[in-house]
Amino acid sequence: MLFKRCILFILLIIIISLSPAVSKTTEEKNQPDASTFVNKDVTFKTNLHFSGKYCDECHEKIPGKDKNMHLKFSGDFTWLCRCHGYTPATYIHPVDIEPSKEKKARIPKDFPLKNGKIVCTTCHDIYKQCQENPEYAQAGEWNRRFYRLQMLFLRGDIKKRTDICFKCHEEQKYQKLNPHMQRNEKGEIIPEICLYCHVAKPDEKTADYEDVKLIGDLKMICQRCHGDMIRHPGGIDHYRVPSTKMYIRMQMLEDKFETVLPLDEEGKLTCITCHNPHEKGVIPKGRRGAKGASESYRHRLPKILCQACHGKLEDLY
Ligand code: HEC
Ligand code: HEC
Ligand code: HEC
Ligand code: HEC
Ligand code: HEC
Ligand code: HEC
Ligand code: HEC
Repeated sequence: MLFKRCILFILLIIIISLSPAVSKTTEEKNQPDASTFVNKDVTFKTNLHFSGKYCDECHEKIPGKDKNMHLKFSGDFTWLCRCHGYTPATYIHPVDIEPSKEKKARIPKDFPLKNGKIVCTTCHDIYKQCQENPEYAQAGEWNRRFYRLQMLFLRGDIKKRTDICFKCHEEQKYQKLNPHMQRNEKGEIIPEICLYCHVAKPDEKTADYEDVKLIGDLKMICQRCHGDMIRHPGGIDHYRVPSTKMYIRMQMLEDKFETVLPLDEEGKLTCITCHNPHEKGVIPKGRRGAKGASESYRHRLPKILCQACHGKLEDLY
C-alpha cells in the first residue's frame, strides 16, 4: 500500500515537472517575450536607440508639450527595457528604492527621482536616445568602445564610468574598494590592502617578482574586479607567449627603461606585463618594480606602451 502511494506520488511529480503549461504560466507573467514588439523587424537584438524609428515600441504616441510621456506598459521599466532583461532585483545598482535622507541630500538636481525613488531614468537620460543619431546608431565595434559612455546616455558630464558614482556617493568611502590606493593620507603603506592580492605583505624594499606570493592565478587576480578583458588591448588577444623576436625586444625594453615586463606562469603576456597595480610610493623609487605606478592607465611604459613593443625601435633609442 505504502509502496503504491509512493509510486503515485512520484508519478505526480514527474507529470507536474513535465507539463509545460504549469511552469509557463508563472514565467509568462514576469518574462516579456517577442510578441510584445509592434514592428515586424524588431527582435531582442535590434538597437532601437538613436535610430529615429520604433518610437511606438516605447510610446503609445509621441509626447507633446504636456508632461505626459505616453509610455507603454504604464512606464514600467522592466518592460520598457525588456531587451536588457533587467528587473529591479537583478540590476547591478539598487533601483526602485527611496534614498536614505543622507543620500537624498547629496543627489544632484540633474539626477531626477520618480515618485521619490531611484529609477532607470535617474542615471540614464533616456530622452537622448529618442532622437536620431546615426553616429551612435550605426557605430561599429571601435566606435562603440569609444562612445561607450555616451551611448549608454548616462547623465552628468562623465569621463570615466566611476565619475557618475561620485555624484551621489562619497568618493572617500569608496576608495576602500580600490586596491590600487595603497597609502593613507600620511603616505604610509596600508598593509591590509596588500592582502587583496598577496598572501602576505611583501617587503617593498627587497622583494622581487620571484619572491612575492599571490593569492591566485595572475590574470584572475585582476579579472575578478575588471572582468575578462579578453580581447585587450587594441581588440587583440594579447595573452600569448611572445615570439622570440618580441621576447628579446621586451628584455631590451626592460633594460632601456629600467622597468619590469613580467610574464605569467606559462610565459604568456598577462595584465601585469603592461600594468603596474601598485600606488606610487609603495615600491621605492629607483627600483624597477616602481615604474609605471599611478601613471596614466598604470602603464609600465607610460605614453609609449604600444610603440614600445610594436613601433620602430629607432624611435625609442
Ligand atoms: C527604448 C524606448 C524608447 C524609444 C524607442 C523612444 N522613446 Fe521617447 N522616451 C522614452 C522614455 C522612457 C521617455 C521618458 C523619459 C523620462 O521620463 O525622463 C521618453 C521621452 C520622450 C519625449 C519627452 C521628452 C521630454 O522630456 O519632454 C519625447 C518627445 C520622445 N520621447 C519622443 C520620442 C520619439 C519621437 C521617438 C522615436 C523617434 C522615441 N521617443 C523613441 C523611451 C523611448
Ligand atoms: C545609479 C545609476 C544607474 C541606475 C539607477 C541605472 N543605471 Fe544602467 N548603468 C549605469 C552605469 C554607470 C552604467 C555603465 C556601466 C559600465 O560602464 O559597464 C550602466 C549601464 C547600463 C546598461 C549597459 C550595460 C549592460 O549591463 O548591458 C544597460 C542596458 C543599463 N544600464 C540599463 C539600465 C536599466 C534597465 C536600469 C533600470 C532598471 C538602469 N540601467 C538603472 C548606471 C545606472
Ligand atoms: C543618482 C544617485 C546615485 C548614483 C549616480 C549612484 N548611486 Fe549608488 N546608491 C544610490 C542610492 C540612493 C543608494 C541606496 C542607499 C542609500 O540610500 O544610501 C545606492 C546604493 C549603492 C550601493 C549599495 C550599498 C550602499 O552604499 O548603500 C552600492 C554598492 C552603490 N550604490 C554603488 C554605486 C556605483 C558603483 C555607482 C556608479 C556606477 C553608483 N552607486 C551611482 C544613489 C546613487
Ligand atoms: C591589485 C593587486 C595587488 C595589490 C593590492 C598589491 N600588489 Fe604587489 N604585486 C601584485 C602582482 C600581480 C605582483 C607581481 C608583478 C610585479 O612584480 O609587479 C606584485 C608584486 C609586488 C612586488 C614585487 C615588485 C617587483 O617586481 O619588483 C612588491 C615589492 C609588492 N608587490 C609589494 C606590494 C605591497 C607592499 C602591497 C601593499 C601596499 C602590494 N604589493 C599590493 C599585485 C598586487
Ligand atoms: C578589488 C577590485 C580590484 C582588483 C582586484 C584590481 N583592480 Fe584595478 N581598479 C579597481 C578600481 C576600483 C579602479 C579605479 C577605477 C577608476 O578609477 O576608473 C581600478 C583601476 C585600474 C586601472 C586604471 C584604469 C585607469 O583608467 O586609470 C588599471 C590599469 C587596473 N586597475 C589594473 C588592474 C590590474 C592589472 C589588476 C591585477 C593585478 C587589478 N587592477 C586588480 C579595482 C580593482
Ligand atoms: C609588452 C609588449 C606589448 C605591448 C605593450 C603591446 N603588444 Fe601587441 N602584441 C604583443 C605580442 C607578444 C603579440 C603576439 C605576436 C608576437 O609575439 O610578436 C602582439 C600582437 C599584436 C597584434 C597582432 C596581431 C596578430 O595576431 O599577430 C596587434 C595588432 C597588436 N599586438 C596591437 C597592439 C596595440 C594596439 C597595443 C597597444 C594598445 C599593443 N599591441 C601593445 C606584445 C605587445
Ligand atoms: C599588452 C599590454 C596590455 C595587457 C596585457 C593588458 N592591458 Fe589593460 N590596457 C592596456 C592599454 C594600452 C590600455 C589603454 C587603452 C585601452 O583601453 O585599450 C589599457 C587599459 C586598461 C584599463 C583601463 C581602461 C578600461 O578599458 O577600463 C584597465 C582597467 C585594464 N587595462 C585592465 C587590464 C586587465 C585586467 C588586464 C588583464 C586581464 C589587462 N589590462 C591586460 C594594455 C594592456
